[in-house]
Amino acid sequence: MIAVAAVALSIRSQVEAVAVDLGEEDVKRSHGSGKNLQPDSQVQKIENETLKDAQLKGAKQLHEQRLPPRPGFGTKGREVILWANYFEVIAPKDLILFRYSIAVLPVDPGDRNPVGKKAKRVIELLIEEHFSEHKPDIATDYKSNMISKSELSVNEDGYLVRYRSEDEDESSPNAKSYRLRLKQSGTLAVSDLMDYLTSSHASTMLESMDEIIQALNIVVGHYPKSAANIFSAGANKHFSMSPSTSEQMSLGGGLHAIRGFFTSVRSATCRILLNVQVKHAACYEEGRLGSLMSVYLSQNSGSMFRLATFLKRLRVRATHIVRKNKAGQESPRVKTITGLAAPGDGNGLQHPPIVPRFGAGAKEVKFHLSSPEGPRGSQLSTSQQSCSGGKKAKKGKQLIKEGPDTQEEGYISVFDFFKKTYNITVTDLDISVINVGTRQNPSYLPPDVCVVIAGQPSGAKLTPGQTQNMINFAVRRPTANAQSIVGNGTRLLGIAQPMNPTLSKFNIAVTPKLITVPGRVLTMPSVRYKNNKAPQMKPASWNMNEVEFSTGSKLASWTYLFISSPKTPNAWSSPLELSNTLNVFQQKLKRLGIDVSNIVPGQRIISNQDNIEADIDTAFKKFVSNPEKRPPKLILVIIPHIDSTIYNRVKFVCDVKAGIQNVCTLAPKLAKNNDQYFANVAMKFNLKLGGRNQSLNNNKLGIISEGRTMVVGLDVTHPSPGSEANTPSVAGIVASVDQWLGQWPADLQIQTSRQEMVSGLDRMLRSRLRLWARHHKGIYPENILVYRDGVSEGQYEIVLDQELPLIRQACQELYPANDFKKGLPRISIIIVGKRHNTRFYPTKKEEADDSWNPQSGTVVDRGVTEARNWDFFLQSHTALQGTARPAHYHIVLDEIFKSRKVQPPFQNTADVIEDLTHNMCYLFGRATKAVSICPPAYYADLVCERARCYLSKLFDATPGATPAGSVVSGGGGKVADPNDVRIHENVRDTMFYI
Ligand SMILES: *[C@@H]1O[C@H](CO)[C@@H](O)[C@H](O)[C@H]1NC(C)=O
Ligand SMILES: *[C@@H]1O[C@H](CO)[C@@H](O)[C@H](O)[C@H]1NC(C)=O
Repeated sequence: MIAVAAVALSIRSQVEAVAVDLGEEDVKRSHGSGKNLQPDSQVQKIENETLKDAQLKGAKQLHEQRLPPRPGFGTKGREVILWANYFEVIAPKDLILFRYSIAVLPVDPGDRNPVGKKAKRVIELLIEEHFSEHKPDIATDYKSNMISKSELSVNEDGYLVRYRSEDEDESSPNAKSYRLRLKQSGTLAVSDLMDYLTSSHASTMLESMDEIIQALNIVVGHYPKSAANIFSAGANKHFSMSPSTSEQMSLGGGLHAIRGFFTSVRSATCRILLNVQVKHAACYEEGRLGSLMSVYLSQNSGSMFRLATFLKRLRVRATHIVRKNKAGQESPRVKTITGLAAPGDGNGLQHPPIVPRFGAGAKEVKFHLSSPEGPRGSQLSTSQQSCSGGKKAKKGKQLIKEGPDTQEEGYISVFDFFKKTYNITVTDLDISVINVGTRQNPSYLPPDVCVVIAGQPSGAKLTPGQTQNMINFAVRRPTANAQSIVGNGTRLLGIAQPMNPTLSKFNIAVTPKLITVPGRVLTMPSVRYKNNKAPQMKPASWNMNEVEFSTGSKLASWTYLFISSPKTPNAWSSPLELSNTLNVFQQKLKRLGIDVSNIVPGQRIISNQDNIEADIDTAFKKFVSNPEKRPPKLILVIIPHIDSTIYNRVKFVCDVKAGIQNVCTLAPKLAKNNDQYFANVAMKFNLKLGGRNQSLNNNKLGIISEGRTMVVGLDVTHPSPGSEANTPSVAGIVASVDQWLGQWPADLQIQTSRQEMVSGLDRMLRSRLRLWARHHKGIYPENILVYRDGVSEGQYEIVLDQELPLIRQACQELYPANDFKKGLPRISIIIVGKRHNTRFYPTKKEEADDSWNPQSGTVVDRGVTEARNWDFFLQSHTALQGTARPAHYHIVLDEIFKSRKVQPPFQNTADVIEDLTHNMCYLFGRATKAVSICPPAYYADLVCERARCYLSKLFDATPGATPAGSVVSGGGGKVADPNDVRIHENVRDTMFYI
């Protein structure tokens, strides 16, 4: 398997955790009580009563609710008690929250609206200067909201605030002023929320729920956001910088990892909860800038362009001038790096600086003496604002007269300037000076006088080495994470005793002990292969030693493309050895039940990085354009090492351009002639050729086994931070074609960038329905069960309001009118969430698996959920290391299951869907284990991932390919062509993406 996709996955999506080995005792100690683990019985009582009430009222009275009510809590499986990473939040009954919106605008309309740190400081000043007596009553997100415990008298005219940094006495002469407007935007009674959550009336609704939850989030987040030794990333991730409460590790290359905490206030049956989860950030190493730069260069083949990208927006403290405030404290001069010295800097100036090369050093870079100092006399600047010769070159006129004055006369090097002016000898001469001004108006500093400020997360893409270090740091046993949460987590958030002042003032208590919830471990289904043979099963995994694929495919002709690299040693010492490997592999294919013809000799190319893409194109042209022979049905592509350029090109050429099935393998792995690896590759062969790898007993798939239900997986992938500006989003769809769920052909479509709604859904679904009908004598499915991935909690409405109508429209166009009268097709939609922060930990050793995670099959639908919603968490897989992430399933539409009588052993429809979803996880064709998210969602995700390969020039724009600071034109002319994701008709109706 090629791990290119894994590289693209960010760390956060891969793992959480450590090498510390903790046992049961540690868990008990870390969570406090070892005695009473029983989940809160009051919670269960309300849960039970709410469902009773829902049943009494029946569907009719609940029809006003958009989302279907929970038909019951699941009942199947062995009962267990689990810790969840949630604390209970207890707010006083009479707590009223006054909510204000804040708008911050510059006084000078030419200035930009302040964001980030600037905005935060301005709001801080507003509170200090205008609401000092209410300060303890106030919590804010330092962006646009303020929550106060007491009503504030707000000045309608707004407030004027003059910016100054924390250490400055008064604003410097050219500091900007900002106008702030406060507007009361509501009065929120926390008791409304408590009444709603503790009520067992199934039909009650609370309109202000989201607002109250948001306000409580602001109150909980205020302390970490205000504390000096904590930095926050995004709205709700907080990282401590003080060594005593912070867990850190060096990643190499100038970065280190810090463990921090995500927080989110959530509503649950009967109570308000605070979800806290461990998070990791890669930060710049604090300290001397020069060392950071040399370390980075030494690990990035000395590329100045990459260095410039790496340093962009980094904040440093300049040390060459010490300035004191009135109290005699040193006040640091903080500068933000915009780039390295680059030719062309300040080329509109009358005396532009002399920069002989990109990333030139202190002796090379010279600037004109008419501008010895920057605007504030603190830094070296070539800006022409100082007294002599401050005019910009009049374009044209001046140039014609004498040309830009870049004669060395009147110029001084950065080195000499620092020697003369500050008696500082710049020692690191090889390293570039940095620009802390702008490209038009540069200001240079030698790294010798700069210190990197702590607490700055880096957006840089991690190198493979750093990624490995991050995984080592972040992948930990669940118990270690739980311990961090109840230990450093509660301290950082100020929720352990003593409570932080804001929470104390608001009278809000957070119980710093993890809650327990009831869970159930569902029985694993047994997997079947050809002739109903069952493999040897371990929990959630098995092997294929003794079995054949359920349905083997036919491979009439195949060959290979062997790409080798002059850099990597040859995996095979001779062509004979390679041919031996391929023969052994071919035997394996036969043994697994693939009707395979003998492999024919293929091609070998030696990859030269510069023209590898063209070489691949040529090789495939040869395969398909031989007039003597029909092109091979499948090509095994042997790649020298993990290389996304090669992989992406092969996929694009084969899937989109040439229409040839292909499977990529890594030479070093293939050459080992390992039976298990061959089996893994064979699984892909069989799926791509239309075979079915494994199956389940019919009764395990319930309604699906009747053959009238099509299961659909749907996902959208969006541009990442490193993508080109005009990168589109891509929607991917997969759908089953029969009752076996062994084949899931797919379709793809580009759409508006960052739009979550699948706009071409009607077209994509029609193509899936037609394919189903081709397998069923022209009959369309009676039921369409959709697993929709990638929709966040606040966006469920998008699916019902915008996607569902497209689904119905597609059906309307295809189904006979008669079906419509009968209410067909029935549609159910389940949202699959994997980006949530809920984790469960076993409370007993005998209920944990080897990695101290809950056992596979663990389902939780009580305690951390709301009784009125129909959702559940399911950990279907076994986590080999780290902390298992359960998937979250939320049923937002159900027409299929509610129309059927529930059969024993199930007691309600929740049982039916939990069981079906769990069992399907054993049918992921590419694995011999249960997967962590239901296969339709998983496959849709793979389809989208594949689209990113086709469009890799947009999605993974190479950082630092162009000099930082050079003018970036709109995406360098690269625009997405819809045809770039149009699968060739030869492979269109297959699992080409697997
Ligand atoms: C809630 O219902 C479940 C299942 O019916 C039952 O086992 C449990 O005892 C009930 N709990 C309470 C507190 O009523
Ligand atoms: C410059 O620095 C050197 C060594 O740091 C010191 O010996 C010398 O006196 C300084 N010169 C001036 C003019 O301050």
